[in-house]
Amino acid sequence: MERIATVEDVPDHGSYLFTVTEPSGRKEEVILVHAADGIAAWKNFCMHEPDQRLDTGLEGGAAMRSGEIICPRHGSMFDAETGYCDNGDAKGQTLVEVDVTVRHGDVFLTDDAVEFAHDGGIDDDDGMPDSTSHIGF
Ligand code: FES
Repeated sequence: MERIATVEDVPDHGSYLFTVTEPSGRKEEVILVHAADGIAAWKNFCMHEPDQRLDTGLEGGAAMRSGEIICPRHGSMFDAETGYCDNGDAKGQTLVEVDVTVRHGDVFLTDDAVEFAHDGGIDDDDGMPDSTSHIGF
């Protein structure tokens, strides 16, 4: 059981982004959000157009209003607790859930189908260039 973050790391009106590895080896982004019954985790893509991320990596994460996650492309809103969308282009669809558990203020990944890879989005991998990487170019 891997610790992802603390509950306090999850913005009240936004999302905490991390990356998991699927059984196929493929990387997938996941967001943590506050929901009515605690912390929920959803795969970070819209059900209308799966190449559209909900959390695009900006400070504070996905846009949220009144307990709903707002898709930045066409504005469909997904219930943070159930993942269900009852409006707009993604109407009738539900985000893909990832199992997490909160214990003593920490959020753990409890989903057997995926493995924790790293914080942040897929592009924020360990190999991310830092300020010195380009010296000698
Ligand atoms: S891509 Fe999200 S509502 Fe269209």
